[in-house]
Amino acid sequence: MRILVLGGTVFLSAAVAAEAVARGHEVTCAARGSSGEPPAGVSFVRVDRDAPDGLAPLAGREFDAVVDVARLPSQVRRAVAALGEGVRHWTFVSSISVYTDNSTPGQNPHTGQVHDPLSADADEADVENYGPAKVSCEQAVLAALADRANVVRAGLIVGPGDRSDRFTYWPVRLARGGEVLAPGAPGDPVQVIDVRDLAAWIVRSAESGVVGVFDATGPTVGRGEFLDRVAAGVSDAVAGAGAGASAEPELTWVDQEFLVAQEVNPWAGPRSLPVWLPRPEYAGMLDHDVSATLAAGLAVRDLGQTARDTLVWAREAGRDLADGPDGPDGPDGPDGADGADPAGLRAGLTAKEEAEVLAAWHRR
Ligand SMILES: NC(=O)c1ccc[n+]([C@@H]2O[C@H](COP(=O)([O-])OP(=O)(O)OC[C@H]3O[C@@H](n4cnc5c(N)ncnc54)[C@H](OP(=O)(O)O)[C@@H]3O)[C@@H](O)[C@H]2O)c1
Repeated sequence: MRILVLGGTVFLSAAVAAEAVARGHEVTCAARGSSGEPPAGVSFVRVDRDAPDGLAPLAGREFDAVVDVARLPSQVRRAVAALGEGVRHWTFVSSISVYTDNSTPGQNPHTGQVHDPLSADADEADVENYGPAKVSCEQAVLAALADRANVVRAGLIVGPGDRSDRFTYWPVRLARGGEVLAPGAPGDPVQVIDVRDLAAWIVRSAESGVVGVFDATGPTVGRGEFLDRVAAGVSDAVAGAGAGASAEPELTWVDQEFLVAQEVNPWAGPRSLPVWLPRPEYAGMLDHDVSATLAAGLAVRDLGQTARDTLVWAREAGRDLADGPDGPDGPDGPDGADGADPAGLRAGLTAKEEAEVLAAWHRR
């Protein structure tokens, strides 16, 4: 097939392009090229979708399938208008952020209410409007291409190449071993999707003509099992690592109220614990019903493998915890106290922060 990836220079859209090449398709990636390089084997067309005629370099080109990851409704509307006509299949990558209710477990596209779309002419990149903007994007695709469209509402996408570190923290932290601060409770639900599994499903769905609206993330596991599987996945890497490797991780579970009192942030960013969300407000966000997606062919690899590959990538990319055993000025770099990213990782606690919170927990 001739597949156009609108994007292709970073993480998911790059993984989609790489998967499509690997499966023998003729792949074009169209982007500005400012986020990175597209994968080998694609033809790259430089476009700037911020400009009203930004897709002009693609004029006259024909594609069997299009995959779009945009966040701005104007960009999606223009893409559908310019490229939709002759296309057999159109994937729009949306997000579970379209749902208004993050607290109820077990939602799916048939049961979950979505945000109102942005007003017709609004086109905000504002993070507060991410969900409504994605609703507008979905509606633009479905209005024009409903019988050919696969709307993929992704959950937390993880794995090699994830620059947010919202999962990477855990393989890196568990590989270091010792006493590990585990947030919340072992039974709290966790749901992630390996970027390569999502990419594979997107490409295969384009090949076979899967259409509909799907929540695209992995099966739910308890956070205790999640951390155990990540730890098991990275244990080989730890065993082979020599210097810097530590003893088996020992989890110390610290409850939400204590973490909030210690000003530990949920989910992302500095001084955070990733894959941890406040309950009950977010009790359903990592607990969607994905049975229909699995039935439609989404296949997920073992979480341990995702963890191992993510750790290998993180090490190659120089992403590590700040404040390692050598202290704040040691080889692990500064602790991010100046507001900069902690050295290497964009999410999680530094080693010093974690040790301080654990000490306070033991003193309580
Ligand atoms: N990460 C998660 O956990 C998560 C969760 C749920 C849903 N999602 C969704 O999953 C998708 C992730 O996509 P992704 O990993 O490929 O990352 P992304 O950051 O959404 O990538 C955007 C792509 O579009 C291109 N682009 C951005 N602005 C452009 C412009 N003005 N003109 C032309 N091209 C432009 C970028 O390339 P250039 O910058 O090189 O132009 C890049 O290739 C998104 O749809 C996101 O909303 C992500």
